[in-house]
Amino acid sequence: MSNSQPDRAPTRLGILLSGRGSNFLAIADSIRTGRLPGVEIAVVIANVSDAPGLAAARAMGLPHAVLVSKGRRREDHDAGVAACLKQHNVDLVCLAGYMRLLSPGFVAQFPHRILNIHPSLLPAFPGLEAQEQAFAYGAKIAGCTVHFVDDELDHGPIVVQRAIPVLASDDAHSLAQRILAEEHQAYTEAIALVASGAYEIRGRRYVKRNS
Ligand code: GRF
Repeated sequence: MSNSQPDRAPTRLGILLSGRGSNFLAIADSIRTGRLPGVEIAVVIANVSDAPGLAAARAMGLPHAVLVSKGRRREDHDAGVAACLKQHNVDLVCLAGYMRLLSPGFVAQFPHRILNIHPSLLPAFPGLEAQEQAFAYGAKIAGCTVHFVDDELDHGPIVVQRAIPVLASDDAHSLAQRILAEEHQAYTEAIALVASGAYEIRGRRYVKRNS
């Protein structure tokens, strides 16, 4: 897939979220301000009906859907999400605070077509509350990672990482806030790279091709 030629079909994003949605809003802002040419949001899907990110998508007039996951078998829920993504002709799935593990069957339907953002420098501090983990551990460098999703938690090939120092004046909250600002840059950067198509994946390594 390459969007470097103007006649190329746009890359259609499917955003999955569960909460606040600040990464989704940052992506939408990058599209609106021309920082992601050839990229559009095809649909925003929330698994929680009162997710603020879903309300924002609705207010922006973007196609959106709520598919409540609570109480459903993972495979059944994921089948509904995959159907919705396909119905909207999604090329690239972006997890943006989607607090739900994906079933292997779902991941297999979008090989190297699902991105996730995680608020640590993976492989350090996978899982929940990564910023608090880094702070409590006494890490001197923190940051965020955008990676392709595979069957393991916070694990697939890394596309972009951004690092920041942990300041003596930081607490866990201020560190999380500064990491979040980096996340908003990193997700746009990663989407632009993937949408360009100018890369290959060698084993675990995402390698940019010279275009
Ligand atoms: C972010 O910190 C992201 O890295 C993590 O979940 C949080 C979502 O925040 N996966 P938001 O909903 O995008 O504001």
